[in-house]
Parts: sequence; structure tokens; C-alpha cells
Amino acid sequence: MIEWMKDDPKTVRELVEWLVTSIHEGVWLPKTRLPPERSLADQFGLNRSTVATAYLELQARGLVDRRQGSGTYVRDDLWGITPDWPRYLEQAAFRPLAPLARKIAETRQRRDILDFSDGNIGPEVWPVESMQRLLAGVDLNEVLGFGHPLGLPALRETVSSEIKRNLNVKVDPESLLITAGAQQALYLLARGLLHPGDSIAIEKPSFYYSQALFQSCGVRLLPIPMDKDGVLPDALKELVRKHRPAMVWLNPTYHNPTGVTLNLERRQAVVAICNAWNLPIVEDDTFAHLQVAGTPKVPSPLFRLAEQSSVLYVGSLSKVVAPGLRIGWVAGPRAIITRLAEIRSQIDSGTPGLVQGLAAAFLSSPGWQSHRRTVSQALRQRRDAFAHSLSTFAARGATWTVPAGGLHFWLKLGGAMPDELRVETAVNSGVTYAPGRLYGAEDGFARLNYVRLSPTEAALGIARLAEAITGGPPHSTRSHI
Ligand SMILES: Cc1ncc(COP(=O)(O)O)c(C=O)c1O
Repeated sequence: MIEWMKDDPKTVRELVEWLVTSIHEGVWLPKTRLPPERSLADQFGLNRSTVATAYLELQARGLVDRRQGSGTYVRDDLWGITPDWPRYLEQAAFRPLAPLARKIAETRQRRDILDFSDGNIGPEVWPVESMQRLLAGVDLNEVLGFGHPLGLPALRETVSSEIKRNLNVKVDPESLLITAGAQQALYLLARGLLHPGDSIAIEKPSFYYSQALFQSCGVRLLPIPMDKDGVLPDALKELVRKHRPAMVWLNPTYHNPTGVTLNLERRQAVVAICNAWNLPIVEDDTFAHLQVAGTPKVPSPLFRLAEQSSVLYVGSLSKVVAPGLRIGWVAGPRAIITRLAEIRSQIDSGTPGLVQGLAAAFLSSPGWQSHRRTVSQALRQRRDAFAHSLSTFAARGATWTVPAGGLHFWLKLGGAMPDELRVETAVNSGVTYAPGRLYGAEDGFARLNYVRLSPTEAALGIARLAEAITGGPPHSTRSHI
């Protein structure tokens, strides 16, 4: 990944120096191509001719080969005898991030960017003070060893009580595995229970990393279409009948990226279909706690509606507390959970005990309930301010539904610009966001985090973004749902 320097190169000499360092650090491996002149020029706000001159200088120094019509490549023999790294990378099981995802991840690191793409509540809402206090009280004797393969018993007890209190489902702490975030739970499930060539039914669009993960695991995705009430049961039924997926994988509450919640009637229909075909369900409930104050309670989870033995229930503290904790969990039949724990122990011997101790202390402190109220209120305030600022987008033909929970607005944009170009122009105007293509949607959708930035920053970012990505001047009529 390209490191963002404190001072971007401004002259040919500085650019050459930056390129030489980057090549020696292996940013681009022997045999691989340097960025096209145009994109490097855009990255640093330079003329294309400055980049062309710098590339010629690299050639003169024997670092690169220039190939007519193909680009500028780091020389094969640059490091003497080297393993064929590009081949290793090409043939590895895990796929690289999509170029658009990489671009957004890199852009996010810039301090001068207003970032709507990140999926977290942001430092202003993190419960920093109470966690700081609780951290001092964590009993190090309890947490400095390797710990229980399923995770710290005290944390499993508190997560189990939370599940009982919030969902009215009884989960034995021995049937609960603490993971490094929900994402690792998804990874363990994919690795532990699916085979290359299997297919799963999953919402379209869906969470970016789950898509990337399944592709890396050789699992085919059968997209279930959605509308404003979640997945369409009839479409699921048809898809199951035709393709016999190995599992149904859903994020039914405040779905990422659309923010939609599957309604009760459809939840019951989904459960009935899965029961009829004996299909396990993975319920990814990562956004469960993110209800906007004053909105209707979400329907019962599939975990409660279905036979508990057929649902693998995934949760996380990343969204409601902070993603850097890397605390998630998966609950399900004991034998499955035990197997997932065994896979996990082959990977990393468990989530750091100190973090688990801190999470357990926080979830059992009075601060947890007050934090939940704070989050819910903050979501309300920021969502409403954001909705107000979005009128700029409405004037340009974008439409959306105001979310009742989760962290995002999901906008259908006007115009026919491809997502890559929209992201490019957004970044050039100092803003980044998550385009629909990342989630498997068609081009022309935008997921915007409404809570991380202050209302003033958000309003500024929205104004810039609307100008950059809607591909046209404001319309005189306004329409938004
Ligand atoms: C639907 C969904 N599942 C899982 C995750 C991963 O969450 P965690 O940070 O707990 O790994 C995310 C993160 O954005 C998500 O949106």
C-alpha cells in the first residue's frame, strides 16, 4: 500500500526520490507495473509531464523498463535473484481487495479528507472515559494467560445475559465463541462449514468483506433481491428450489449497506423456507444495538423465530462500542461452536485477554446501559441533521429512505457516472464515501455514514459530495422519499 507522506512530492527530484524509496521498500515488486502516469499525477496534484520525466529518470538509473503502450515496470533483476513474488500473490487463496476498495482504504488515511465511508460511530461517541477507568480495574491475573478456547468465561457470561435480555433467547456460555469481531466469526463459519464450490444465498447488496471472503473461499454467492422491507421470500424460495444453497446468510436488522430491516412477516417466511429445506441460517446481527431513539423496536431475530439449532447467531461490539476492540461472538449448537474454536486456535489462540476483560467489565457496568442510550440519542440527532443537509442531493435527483437504525444513509444517485469516476471526483474534492459497487449493487448508489462527522463537517462534506458525484447541476424540482 502506498504510504501517504507528510509532504507530497512537488518537483521531479522529489518524485524520483519518493519513487526510488517506494521501489526499494517493495511497494511495487520486480516485474510489476508502476501506477499509470495520469493516476500518480492526480494523486499528488502534479502535471503528467512531471511524472513522465520522473519515470524516464528511473529508467536511466536502471530501476524500471518502459514498455510502449503497456506502462512502466520495475525491472525483474532489480533485487538480484528474487522469488517470483507476483506469482505467489496471484496464486494465493485470498484475493486482493477490489481496486475501488483499496482506493477508499488508502484515501481514508488522509487527514484532509472528510470520510463518509467508515462504518463506525466515531470517537466522539466511544465510551472512552468509562473504559479508561474500567481498564485499570481489569484483573491481570485473570487475563494474561492463554485463556479458555471459547473466550474469557466472564465475557461469555455477560454476552449470554445480554442476548437473553435483548432477544429473549437463552444461550449457554459454552455455546458461545468470542471472536475478533463479527468478521472473524464469518470467516470461521465460511472456513469451518463450507467447501469450495458450495453456494450460499445472501442479500444483494451485502457487506463488502463478506463478499470478498466468500470469493477467496471459493464459495459462490446466490443473490437474494431486496426491497424496503428486506429480502423477498418468494425470490428466496425460488432460489433455494433451483440452486440448493448450502446456507442462507442474512443481515436482517439495519442491513449493511441499505439500512433496511427485514419485517416480521418476511422473517417468518424466511424461517419457514429454511425449515422446509433443512437449511442453516447465519444471522449477522452486527448492527443490533443501533436503534435510532424514537423508532419502532425491531422484530424478533431469526435466532428466536427459528429452531435455535438451525441458526448461527453473530454479534459484535464494533458498531455500538468501538471497532478497535475487535470483540464479536457467534452462538450456535455446541459441536459447531467447539469446532469453530478449534479452527480459531489454529489461527491465533484467541482474542487478547486484556480486551476481553475490559469488554466484560464494560458490559456488566452501569455505563453500558447509559452508553446505549447515548448512542441511540446521538444517532437520532445526527441522522436528523444529516437528513436536513441531504436536501442538496435531493435537488440533484438522488433518493433515499431515512434509516431507523444502523449508521448509514443509502442513496440512489441521479446521473450515469460509473462509481470509479464518482469516487475519483469525490476524492479530488476532499471527500470519500462507500460506492454501491463495493457491495455488489449496480453503480450509482452511495453509502454515507451519518454519525461519525459533526453536523458542520457533514454539511460541508455533503455539499462537496453532491457537487462531485451526482454528475449534473441541481434540478429545479425536488423528490425524495
Ligand atoms: C454486516 C456486517 N457484518 C460484520 C461486520 C464486521 O464487524 P466487526 O468489526 O465486528 O468485525 C460488519 C462491519 O462493517 C458488517 O457491516
